[in-house]
Amino acid sequence: MNICTTREEMLAQSAAWKTTGQSVCLVPTMGNLHDGHLSLLELAAAHSDKVITSIYVNPLQFAPSEDFDKYPRTQSADLDKLAATAICDAVFMPETMYEDGHATKIFPGSLADGLEGASRPHFFTGVATVVNQLLEQTDADKAVFGEKDFQQLRVIQQMVLDRHLQIEVIAAPTLREADGLAMSSRNGYLTTTQRAQAPALYQALQKAAESLYAGVEVAKTLSTAQQDLVATGFDSVDYFILCAADTLAPLMELKNKSNLSEGDTDGAVLLAAARIGDVRLIDNLRV
Ligand code: PAF
Repeated sequence: MNICTTREEMLAQSAAWKTTGQSVCLVPTMGNLHDGHLSLLELAAAHSDKVITSIYVNPLQFAPSEDFDKYPRTQSADLDKLAATAICDAVFMPETMYEDGHATKIFPGSLADGLEGASRPHFFTGVATVVNQLLEQTDADKAVFGEKDFQQLRVIQQMVLDRHLQIEVIAAPTLREADGLAMSSRNGYLTTTQRAQAPALYQALQKAAESLYAGVEVAKTLSTAQQDLVATGFDSVDYFILCAADTLAPLMELKNKSNLSEGDTDGAVLLAAARIGDVRLIDNLRV
């Protein structure tokens, strides 16, 4: 497993693989790796000859009020986990991402306005800007993003389309704990009591999907879901919403009940963000 800390090293490694006809897939991360990340690597390995994992805590996606310095940095444990998979061919840990004077940012437009963007207006500009840099600095042919961060996935897909990047974006299904809780670095901040309550988020999404399939109107389904979440221990619900999966525009009715496969951008998606103590959890379910 080659560790590259500069853009030059990374590009040289990528070029060496590509000149022998091998495809290269990037799995971008901010480290603090868990099994959810490792499932992204497995998908990357299934789709390409070589897998690069990037580890970079991106300051651009943190607001001043969000503690960038306190974001968990677990480099040595992350490298051990990556080595243990035996499917990660290179780790890109750039010492410098934004050179002095770096000024250009990517503004994602309306896909980034609501949902996560409403409470974190800076966030998707930071994500799109760093992902654009990472794609350029690795020269990957493909990149994997988790459906757990559905809005992020859509922002990246749109950026790749708009900028005509020669990259295949692969959407990875959400990996869940046995009780349904979506795997996330944030789960580590939950107390034992909160951890026991947290699966209620996915349960509320599943119940809402059943309610919609049963023909209950969208507004009623969503308000019941919010009440259920608060009744099961969540302190507040930032949003619980039905959106068009392509534009993320809110929907007031579910028109198409046809089966959708993972990664499709048609149809609808239930998206939720809720707080339990200081921890804000997000999840989603395609319907
Ligand atoms: O999802 C994440 O971990 C980050 O937003 C990403 C895509 C690595 C960009 O910093």
